[in-house]
Amino acid sequence: MRMRPFKLERFFAAHEFNVRHTLCSSDCEPLSQAELLEMADDDSMELWDNLKLGYTESLGAPHLREEIAGLYADVDPAEVLVCSPVEGIFVAMNAILEKGDHVICGFPDYQALDEVARAIGCEVERWTADEGQGWRFDPAWLQKHIRPDTKLIVVNFPNNPTGFLPCLEDFERIVYWRASAAPTCSPTRCTGTSSSRMARGCRPPATSTTGRSAYMGCPRRSGWQGSGSAGW
Ligand SMILES: Cc1ncc(COP(=O)(O)O)c(C=O)c1O
Repeated sequence: MRMRPFKLERFFAAHEFNVRHTLCSSDCEPLSQAELLEMADDDSMELWDNLKLGYTESLGAPHLREEIAGLYADVDPAEVLVCSPVEGIFVAMNAILEKGDHVICGFPDYQALDEVARAIGCEVERWTADEGQGWRFDPAWLQKHIRPDTKLIVVNFPNNPTGFLPCLEDFERIVYWRASAAPTCSPTRCTGTSSSRMARGCRPPATSTTGRSAYMGCPRRSGWQGSGSAGW
């Protein structure tokens, strides 16, 4: 599997930490550790003070997965994987996809979303947002291009880099057309709440990847992935 250079990350590697102002980051102003700990209740402070820096369960610490599952209407802690969002994309696509599979991926996007599928050897078809409609992903396009052998539809809402968020009617039409063929993988790192609400609209099988950088203000390459085999 050969992946092409990750243009955005190479750009950040070159510039992000040697400029006075960054006007192109996708995360919000991060919290300080002190600010985060100020929010802790007694139980969390005890967990923090007694934290052993050893290995934990491979899917993530059980109490953390319970907390994450609690963010969703119907996700079992066993369906939660604690991972960085980009790891989640890699793991989900390698679990779901095989060489030659047809994948529909929203574009523009966070490069990993189409690059991992492409590197697996999939036929990746771009679902290009309509700038004239405020970067709308038109469900009618999906209706025309989804195939019985479409293996995966990749959506990212709110969309990075456009910020586009579909109205509920559009999202339900996406879910409807998706149901006619493929499972959904919805890495929505930006705002967990909206993503979990959107993920809830997805009938299984669906996978939703969430990160802590945009709506929690504490990125550090951390997040989780929920894969609904049952209802969301
Ligand atoms: C859609 C999407 N998924 C995953 C990621 C990676 O998240 P993180 O930087 O928290 O590892 C990003 C980062 O911008 C993203 O926009």
